[in-house]
Order: sequence, then C-alpha cells, then structure tokens
Amino acid sequence: MGNDKKKIVFLTGAGMSAESGIKTFRDTNGLWENYPVMDVASADGFARNPALVHQFYNMRRADLLKAQPNDGHRLVAELEKDYDVYVITQNVDNLHERAGSSNVLHLHGELMKVRALDDESKVYELKPEAIETTPETIIDGHHVRPHIVFFQEAVPMIEPAIDIVKQADIVVVIGTSLVVYPAAGLLSFAPPSARLFYIDPNPAVVPNRVNVIKKGASEGMKELIKQL
Ligand code: OAD
Repeated sequence: MGNDKKKIVFLTGAGMSAESGIKTFRDTNGLWENYPVMDVASADGFARNPALVHQFYNMRRADLLKAQPNDGHRLVAELEKDYDVYVITQNVDNLHERAGSSNVLHLHGELMKVRALDDESKVYELKPEAIETTPETIIDGHHVRPHIVFFQEAVPMIEPAIDIVKQADIVVVIGTSLVVYPAAGLLSFAPPSARLFYIDPNPAVVPNRVNVIKKGASEGMKELIKQL
C-alpha cells in the first residue's frame, strides 16, 4: 500500500490452473475421484503411509514441471500496472509466480517445497531434477514431508489472508468450488463497499452482490478487465 492505487485481491482455486493442464480436485475425473483424499492428503494418511503421500505429490510435481501459466495467470499479473494486486491462492502450484505476480500468498502450501518433520522452520525448495526419480524423503539428515496443508491440519496463513481481504476495493474469486474452509469463507470478509466478482464456468452459489462471470479463467479475466 502507501499509494493511491486501488487494491484488488484475487482468491484463486484449482480452476485457475485448469487451462494450464493441471487437474482440478472435484470436477469429473478430478484428482479426488482417482485418489482417496484421506489417503493422500490428510495428516492421518501421511502417518499411515508416508511413501504413498510422497509418491502422490511427486506425480503432481511432475505434472507441474510440464505446465505453463495460462492467459488468466498472465492477466492477473499484468493488472499490477494499474492496481495493488494481491493473490491469495488455494493452489500449491507456482504458476502465479511464474506469470509474474509479485504478491502471492499460498493458503494450502507449496508443491515444490518440503519441510523437516523435526523442525517446521526448515523448508527446502526441491530441484526440478530431483522430481524425476523417487521422491526425496531425507534432506540434510532430516526426514521431510510435503510443504502442504493436509486435511485435519490448521491453515496458518488464513489470518494474513483475512487481513488482506478486509482492505480490498475489489475481490475476484477464480476457479474454486468454494467448499473447503476456511478458504471458502474469505469472501465474507470483504468490506461492504468492495466490488465482488466470481469467474468460474460452473460457479457455486454465492450472495447476490457477487457479479458472476460464467467463463473459464482466461476468457473470464478478459471479461473482468472490461468491467473494471
Ligand atoms: P475444486 O476442484 O473443488 O474446484 C475447481 C473449480 O474450478 C470448480 O468450481 C470448477 O467449475 C472450476 N473450473 C474448472 N475449469 C475451470 C476453468 N477453465 N477456469 C476457471 N474455473 C474452472 O478446487 P478448489 O476449489 O481449488 O486442498 O479446491 C479447494 C481445495 O480442495 C484445494 O486447495 C485442495 C483440495 O482438497 C488441499 O489439498 C489442501
């Protein structure tokens, strides 16, 4: 802040990256249809079978390395010319950053990172070449886990995310089914004066004051820019 640019906050979900070839979770043939979520993405699942969880996230990393940001990500980044842009994403990919967005808050962690089980503050960025083979489970002598917020775990970044949404002039939700809390509740922290938009080809039910753009992320962003 510290300038008079309007503050626009994007709340993004898996649909933001769908056009980059990253699978969503709950659409037909989505990830949770093929992998039981409580096996591969929960604290209990990791305690039961860490190898399976490491393998699942390594497959996601391999998919991510093949993916490129789409026009939707790029248009979000380009808005920094005229707005103070904040991206709060549920996505664990790094496509917003690779498209040029400067302020990206990851609510559910980051795919390309792991952290030590015995010291949460030790976070390691994985090298792309490490993804090709078996997942690294020990780094610098520490057993590591994906730097991902599993189901059954707290979402430590929710408080800073709420503070950002509370100061927004415009909030734009893109590509999320709005079923996973606390992320799904963020929109309700927008000030009454804020303009609200929701870009999704198959949108969830949202309050009347939200302007729904029933399109994919790239086309939806073009439409949003016309309406801003
Ligand atoms: P979902 O898979 O639940 O929802 C994806 C949304 O993207 C749906 O509303 C689709 O209609 C929409 N969509 C599909 N194609 C799109 C496109 N081309 N452009 C824009 N939108 C499109 O994914 P999330 O809501 O992100 O958490 O899921 C929330 C969390 O549940 C994830 O962060 C993940 C998951 O379990 C963890 O793993 C912690």
